[in-house]
Amino acid sequence: MKNVVITGSTRGIGFYMAREFLSAGCNVTLSGRGEDLAAAAHNELKPFEGKYIYIPCNVREKASLQNLWDASYKQWGSVDIWINNAGQNTPYKFSWETGETYTENVIMTNITGMVYGSQVAAVGMLKQGHGAIYSMEGLGSDNMIQLKTILYGTTKHALRYFMKGLAKELEGTGVIAGRLSPGMMLTDFITKTPDGDPSEVLGDEKFKKVFNIIADKPETVASFFIPRILSNTRNDVLIAWMTNAKAGWRFMTAGFRKGKLI
Ligand SMILES: NC(=O)c1ccc[n+]([C@@H]2O[C@H](COP(=O)([O-])OP(=O)(O)OC[C@H]3O[C@@H](n4cnc5c(N)ncnc54)[C@H](OP(=O)(O)O)[C@@H]3O)[C@@H](O)[C@H]2O)c1
Repeated sequence: MKNVVITGSTRGIGFYMAREFLSAGCNVTLSGRGEDLAAAAHNELKPFEGKYIYIPCNVREKASLQNLWDASYKQWGSVDIWINNAGQNTPYKFSWETGETYTENVIMTNITGMVYGSQVAAVGMLKQGHGAIYSMEGLGSDNMIQLKTILYGTTKHALRYFMKGLAKELEGTGVIAGRLSPGMMLTDFITKTPDGDPSEVLGDEKFKKVFNIIADKPETVASFFIPRILSNTRNDVLIAWMTNAKAGWRFMTAGFRKGKLI
């Protein structure tokens, strides 16, 4: 079974991907900036005791990512799958209104952290002779421009460029690189501001209407991703949950959809 490392897996899609990999029999390293996982998260992973570890890692620091690799390698003997999932949003504001700290956070986490993570994983995987590196796409990866979200979109646009380039650089080495596209999900990322307050979008009826049609729970998206990641051998793959066709179908059948996410 595969040994997996996921950055930013204390909650949201990262956590549910970890749980899904564990259910599939993998060994998993979870990580985030805190000293440990929350008790509730450990509790949810109780059936998998001995199959997972938690290593603190702030993706903004390359040494922290190197430690994540080293500790995982030591624990599991190899790292077969590395996922750059850690991500931050900015407050819902025009780009010029966005403060310096938020601007720096989103770029340092979503671009620098993803690049550092990929560098660390690529070096380790080239040395061990195999492995797969994935990064989590988001709004902007496909060029879509959404007002008051363009700083975040800029980072996810850069992520696609980098990962496609990385896949080319890795061609023929035995190590592959790919991307995961989750669509919209009900996580803290959407419902909270970067400071943990209720997000402005929760008061926006138009946003809520679209979100309830198009979004999903992270558990649902994770259960779609994991079998596809485990069976994938193709370089430069895009594993996408919410395709244009699926989104179109959701809007067409919106009137019949029961239950609301927010
Ligand atoms: N939710 C959506 O609709 C959506 C849509 C498209 C793409 N995405 C992408 O999916 C990924 C996960 O998002 P989510 O929705 O699951 O968000 P989330 O619930 O807010 O989770 C974010 C995760 O990233 C971690 N994190 C944040 N900054 C970090 C840093 N500097 N170093 C290490 N870990 C860090 C957090 O851990 P700690 O706070 O414990 O450090 C947490 O585990 C992100 O890349 C996001 O851009 C989300």
